[in-house]
Amino acid sequence: LSLRTHNTFGIDVTTPLALRVDDPARLPEALAMAPDALILGGGSNLLLVRAPDAVLELANDDIAVIAENADHVHVRCGAGAVWHDFVMATLQRGWSGLENLALIPGAVGASPIQNIGAYGVEVMERIIAVDAWDRTDTRWVRFDNSDCAFTYRDSRFKHEPDRYVVTAVEFRLDRQPRLRLDYAGIRDELAAMARTNPNARDIADAVIRIRRRKLPDPAVIGNAGSFFKNPIVAAAVAEGLRSEHADLPVFPAGSTEQRKLSAAWLIDRCGWKGHRDGDAGVSAGHALVLVNHGHATGAQLLDLARRIAVSVRERFGVAIEPEPRIIGSSW
Ligand code: FAD
Ligand code: EPU
Repeated sequence: LSLRTHNTFGIDVTTPLALRVDDPARLPEALAMAPDALILGGGSNLLLVRAPDAVLELANDDIAVIAENADHVHVRCGAGAVWHDFVMATLQRGWSGLENLALIPGAVGASPIQNIGAYGVEVMERIIAVDAWDRTDTRWVRFDNSDCAFTYRDSRFKHEPDRYVVTAVEFRLDRQPRLRLDYAGIRDELAAMARTNPNARDIADAVIRIRRRKLPDPAVIGNAGSFFKNPIVAAAVAEGLRSEHADLPVFPAGSTEQRKLSAAWLIDRCGWKGHRDGDAGVSAGHALVLVNHGHATGAQLLDLARRIAVSVRERFGVAIEPEPRIIGSSW
């Protein structure tokens, strides 16, 4: 099977074996055939430098209400559901909490892997539990939120890639919306849309509009969203950089001693925006997004990414790290 249409970078590698599992109960049986199979969701956070020996896709996408009261619903969703479809289905039923995360590509099962986040919300705020198959101990496991080690773009699952196959995720959603408008761009967008008294669906619409404007569409040009995580540095380091570069965007990072810097700004300042080496390039619209102009290989994109990181380190003394999972090589 060619994986070209199964990864949003559009990298053309061929895998000898592709499995699809509709019923998670049959997962152990499927894994017996391909113990090392790469679990593949939407392929939107992957850089394929080499082809995996096998891929396995989960197709269970059922949504079930586990419990509810006047204020909250506890919902369980199968790992194979498309994330954005799940978000829209919850809003349709009047459940809010995921609206800021509209239009993030990929599957529900991948949402806890890197604790997806956007526009002031991280999915960890809504996850109650994650059900998974443990390939190392060959048994079913259930992780409560506090067992998942969620932080910015990270979790225990990302640290032990391939060990846990997520089969379902449980979320706590609100019946009484508590809208999150911390990200200034959302308020501006709502104003532009003339929504003065917005509901959760309006927030999703605003986020969708901002995302369509800012991020390249993988259907048009191959990409995996942000290629680098925003670096978290000591507050003193951020202040030092800020004293030299007054326009450097600096964000809170959860603790008083740390700050999050904008990787896009650092890369942009090093002159990479719109850069192109053959078909591997940096988006002309957003410096954090690497793009495949047609036939770039994973190795070419990785090489470009490494040169970008070296230049940011040399110019600013800051290490930046990739966000996508790299298959067939290491950072
Ligand atoms: P894949 O790329 O298929 O897999 C990624 C990793 O997760 C792999 O290691 C894979 O083995 C593992 N995995 C997938 N499913 C499972 C499972 N069921 N069990 C165990 N492991 C699994 N991310 C954000 O956080 N915020 C954003 O705003 C955002 N915007 C994006 C915009 C664009 C245009 C693109 C292309 C990507 C963006 N991303 C964003 C990154 C990506 O959408 C998320 O990381 C998403 O959760 C990846 O889901 P996926 O199903 O495509 O995972
Ligand atoms: N900027 C530049 N040059 C650019 C683009 C941006 O200097 O070419 C600066 C701007 O000053 C801007 C700042 O960078 O204010 C931040 O840009 P943006 O708001 O686009 O956010 P980001 O930090 O680049 C992060 C996430 C996105 C998420 C958005 C919205 C990471 C690594 N990325 O991007 O997530 O959608 O915020 O919340 O945290 C992803 O993870 O794949 C992803 C797309």
